[in-house]
Amino acid sequence: KGVLETIEEVTKPANKGLIRETWNMIAGDRKNGVELMALLFEMAPDSKKDFRRLGDVSPSNIPNNRKLNGHGITLWYALMNFVDQLDNKIDLEDVCRKFAVNHVNRGVLDVKFAWIKEPLAELLRRKCGQTCTDQHIQAWWKLIDVVCAVL
Ligand code: HEM
Ligand code: HEM
Repeated sequence: KGVLETIEEVTKPANKGLIRETWNMIAGDRKNGVELMALLFEMAPDSKKDFRRLGDVSPSNIPNNRKLNGHGITLWYALMNFVDQLDNKIDLEDVCRKFAVNHVNRGVLDVKFAWIKEPLAELLRRKCGQTCTDQHIQAWWKLIDVVCAVL
């Protein structure tokens, strides 16, 4: 999918509404970033190879891993940055492109980036309970598609 196409999709009012409804329920807890990373390592174990800098990311060590804690908090604000640009297509594209550089430099392209989709869906289901429908998850995946399109 092309970049413009993915941006058109995610910025439709219905999709923005679905993303914001669920984001508002989870945004306040920055520790959700660490939980999302734990889910990534569990559901896409190959991703651990890309995160060697973070050291021991086995489940038992995750609560003690301060590098992972720092990364998780940073990641959470990056997600917030995307959500905050949904009303301006130019800003959304520019922020996604800026963000993509850090991942391309580490060999994380669209295929690897898409590994976050299922962990993100699981986090939303855990944190938003009944509120989280398949439509919410599809809307979030459209946001991930924007980043994948620029990678
Ligand atoms: C990049 C924050 C001050 C030099 C960045 C990035 C952030 C940031 C978030 C992007 C990180 C990344 O993409 O990995 C800040 C904050 C500052 C600050 C919050 C203080 C309030 C400075 C200062 C300098 C500086 C004083 C140098 C005089 C740079 C450079 C980059 C950068 C060279 C890379 C820019 C690029 O090539 O994309 N900064 N920064 N920063 N910062 Fe800062
Ligand atoms: C670093 C955000 C998904 C691989 C980062 C950084 C942020 C970030 C903010 C720090 C930027 C920097 O230090 O240059 C996100 C967000 C994601 C996501 C918001 C999706 C919701 C992924 C996925 C992978 C990945 C799926 C690989 C499978 C990496 C790697 C680093 C990184 C290897 C460098 C870690 C380090 O050594 O500190 N990510 N990321 N990211 N990301 Fe992502």
